[in-house]
Amino acid sequence: MPIIVNGTTLNNVDVGGANIQKVYARQGETGTYVLVFEKGGVVTVALWFGGNWKMNNLKANIDAFFNTFNSALTLDESKKVVIFPPACYLDYVKSKIASSLSNMVEVGIQNVFYETKGAYTGEISALMAEDCGCTHAMVGHSEQRQYFGVTNETCNKTVKSILANTSMTAWLFVGETLEIREAGNEDAYVQNELQECLTGVSPSDIETGRVVICYEPIWAIGTGLTCSAADAQLMMDVIKSKIAEMYGDQAAQKIAKVYGGSVKASNINDILMQPDISGVSAGGVSLKAANFAEMINVAAE
Ligand code: PGA
Repeated sequence: MPIIVNGTTLNNVDVGGANIQKVYARQGETGTYVLVFEKGGVVTVALWFGGNWKMNNLKANIDAFFNTFNSALTLDESKKVVIFPPACYLDYVKSKIASSLSNMVEVGIQNVFYETKGAYTGEISALMAEDCGCTHAMVGHSEQRQYFGVTNETCNKTVKSILANTSMTAWLFVGETLEIREAGNEDAYVQNELQECLTGVSPSDIETGRVVICYEPIWAIGTGLTCSAADAQLMMDVIKSKIAEMYGDQAAQKIAKVYGGSVKASNINDILMQPDISGVSAGGVSLKAANFAEMINVAAE
């Protein structure tokens, strides 16, 4: 392709077939010019970090959190941090993120209702969450399933509503109880969750990264019990084969697969070392700014 650099056309420049969107020349240290190729103008997210605050933190706690977090977190835009506060604090949390971190730290909502508006007292739509600055939305966290009647069927409607009505990324939560694992049925259970929650979701939404799959074994949430990194990887393999069956191998490779359940700085790298785990979703540790920042800082790609 011909590339125009500072007004001069260069022909037959081979840039390895990469998706180059911007080329410019800048003066190098030795006085010569250096060509800079920018890929898509977008930094690819290599690692995901969800911080699910659940029903915790008042404004005073949020102030204290960001006083520490904004300075403790090392800027690295290949790491995407999404804080999921209680919905009434979405704007407030967003306003507290240091501007230097705004490409790295974003805000998401813990749950939305699948209708866009109407007489649904107490509910919040995906559109409203996006309007408050959310770029991500959780769907079907196990506590929503356990206490608030969320089912695979409602998750399916919610995922589709998020994709159709907003440009947010849907984080779909799946995971088995201890009883299911002890009975040896965890693979079938999680595959069925994926089947029912993703029915009718288009391949293009999967391929463009609009869905993150979050595997949280329920018995490892807030219990201090961690699923071993090897066991988490085994389930990611199961998830991968289900996504491959539904959307093909490439989509199965590409879709972000995140693990959650008692993640902390001391175990994060064992988890991230697994070939199919591209991030974590943290509950408890995300409430403590210094610990959450430390976990993200030490995480290696
Ligand atoms: P935990 O919670 O990190 O406290 O185990 C995880 C979650 O529920 O997302």
